[in-house]
Amino acid sequence: MMSGDLVYVLNGPNLNLLGTREPAIYGHDTLDEIAGRIEDRARELGLAVDIRQSNHEGHLVDWLHEAQAKGARAVLLNAGAFTHSSIALHDAIKAIGVPVIEVHLSNPHAREDFRHRSFVGRAAKGTIAGFGAESYLLALAATATFGG
Ligand code: DQA
Repeated sequence: MMSGDLVYVLNGPNLNLLGTREPAIYGHDTLDEIAGRIEDRARELGLAVDIRQSNHEGHLVDWLHEAQAKGARAVLLNAGAFTHSSIALHDAIKAIGVPVIEVHLSNPHAREDFRHRSFVGRAAKGTIAGFGAESYLLALAATATFGG
């Protein structure tokens, strides 16, 4: 598989707790289960995925840079609460030539006011939110339309 077929799937803080974290909002699937579904769909689409999670903002910045260095086709980024606070992630997305799709399980616009501002979304190519784990699969399908 060529590096242009590679999609990074980056997950931010607290997403390691999926499955037990506020299931009424985020569902009962663990991140590992969601990752398995992303891998299955990637195989069907002829894409390779590199799926990671960190609770640390700087790791996400480093991985965005790495996606560029590796010539990735796209990044799917669920930055968790850093979405609403991180100018560093905004700047990293702007700094790399790789298209980034903002992904959320929930629909932040239907929730508290503090979730309505997205520093990630202001730099991203697009956003898919509100479809639970399916948000990742829809975003992955979108990357299949990008040149790679
Ligand atoms: C989230 C939405 C964010 O507002 C929240 O801080 C998260 C998860 C989502 O996937 O719905 O941690 O990114």
